[in-house]
Amino acid sequence: MKNLVVFASGSGSNFQAIIDSIKKERIQASITGLITNKADIGAVERAKKNSIPVRVMETEPEHEFANNLLRQFEKWTPDFIILAGFLKKIPDVIIKKFPDRIINIHPSLLPKYGGKGFYGKHVHRAVIEAGETESGCTVHYVNEEYDQGDIIDQIKVPVLPGDTPDTLAARILKQEHQLLPSVIKNLTNQK
Ligand code: GRF
Repeated sequence: MKNLVVFASGSGSNFQAIIDSIKKERIQASITGLITNKADIGAVERAKKNSIPVRVMETEPEHEFANNLLRQFEKWTPDFIILAGFLKKIPDVIIKKFPDRIINIHPSLLPKYGGKGFYGKHVHRAVIEAGETESGCTVHYVNEEYDQGDIIDQIKVPVLPGDTPDTLAARILKQEHQLLPSVIKNLTNQK
């Protein structure tokens, strides 16, 4: 049985998708904890409802964040770290310590519309303004550069006439909830 530690900064619907997949035994793993930089978010509520331990951490200064994570990981012993809408940078020491063990979900077809500043609505607005006819979501390994680690898998969705950032985000989010658990399932079975 593999241990997952999830990082989230928002509503946590992707976190919920992982919880649900574990409950349905589609993923053989246990979520040993949630790391967040914000206490009053949906992801924390979801953790509490599911008796998953939560640590709220300051992310600066970076070396303290890294030390706090390393200390916490001694207890939570992650095999995989899942970034499910975590908006802060992961310290390099953590990335080095978990090579090919940290994954992130991003709401575009990377390498398009990734990198610093491309998060949430900014991504979808840019996609619509560029006149793209398709977008989607990507799960990738995390390296030292934002959204530039190797791509593991993607799902495409159409951009429809009249789409707003909100309608496009909702269409993509639905697919994120399929993609992230499916990648975790494969990884936890393989490695
Ligand atoms: C998702 O769109 C994800 O791709 C991005 O942040 C959003 C998180 O949504 N990285 P939620 O908190 O999982 O609902």
